[in-house]
Amino acid sequence: MNRIPVILDCDTGVDDAIAIMLINKLPQFNLLALTSVAGNVELEKTTNNALRVLELIKSDIPVYRGAAKPIFREHVKAVYIHGENGLGGIELPQTSHVVPGITAWDYIYQEALKWQGELEIIAIGPLTNLGLAFIKYKQLPELIKRIVIMGGSASIGNVTPAAEFNIYVDPEAADIVFRSGVPVYMCGLDITMKAYLTAEEISQVGALGTKPAKFFQEVAQGPLNFSLRIGLAGMSLHDPAAVLYASDPSIFETHQVGMRVETKGPLSIGRTVTDLYSDTQWQNNGFIITDVDRKAFYQKVIALMSQY
Ligand code: BDR
Ligand code: CA
Repeated sequence: MNRIPVILDCDTGVDDAIAIMLINKLPQFNLLALTSVAGNVELEKTTNNALRVLELIKSDIPVYRGAAKPIFREHVKAVYIHGENGLGGIELPQTSHVVPGITAWDYIYQEALKWQGELEIIAIGPLTNLGLAFIKYKQLPELIKRIVIMGGSASIGNVTPAAEFNIYVDPEAADIVFRSGVPVYMCGLDITMKAYLTAEEISQVGALGTKPAKFFQEVAQGPLNFSLRIGLAGMSLHDPAAVLYASDPSIFETHQVGMRVETKGPLSIGRTVTDLYSDTQWQNNGFIITDVDRKAFYQKVIALMSQY
């Protein structure tokens, strides 16, 4: 099988950590590196968390440090879900791996040149690194095959009534990405709220008994309890949904759409606006993912975690 060269751009909090463990076992990908960005918590923590998760799963792929704050705005965090350290207070062992001296956006361009149009990006945090890469390298859009994001929503938000967290944190960067000309596949809340695991299913993963499986169960407890408290059926695996979509869309429903980002607000700042339901049709610039076979999704998650 020709494995797809891919970079995972992440703000390692709880569901990013799970996404890293899953992508590491997906045979479709040649995972080149992780790139870190400020999002759920500060950049130093998201970078360090990514390194620690890689250490846990015995992967030696590099982590490139990205942007410490959004392009124009102050950084907004999500510690109420992910905890102050980003991993619900769980202290994974430290790693001796050193972060290379090249920035995430320079690294993305370097790899895009090398792979001559074959590189794919999966971005599961605020889109600051990609936004900066497109600003700096005008040729970059021709060199990236597609971008799969966890972010946005065709309907409601989760951080404000209108906006999903990753887009809300850096709407200008998201706007640059949406208008870059590279096809964007949007795994937003429309799909990720359906890609949840129940408390029992999370326990079943933990019962696999390996260190990664036990970490999965422990780190999921905070978001799981939060979700149950607000009346949801389980913990949404937002970031893993984007990773699994990128590897195999067959259990998902996809629609080609035009989509943009509201950057002015004030009430709807960070909202992703699509023509999915409207009479007015914009020029298509991407795809929105709207549904998933949840049971099949869970089966994939547990099958991948069984490989540790
Ligand atoms: C997204 O926001 C972050 O808190 C999660 O890691 C996920 O990427 C969900 O809105
Ligand atoms: Ca994330």
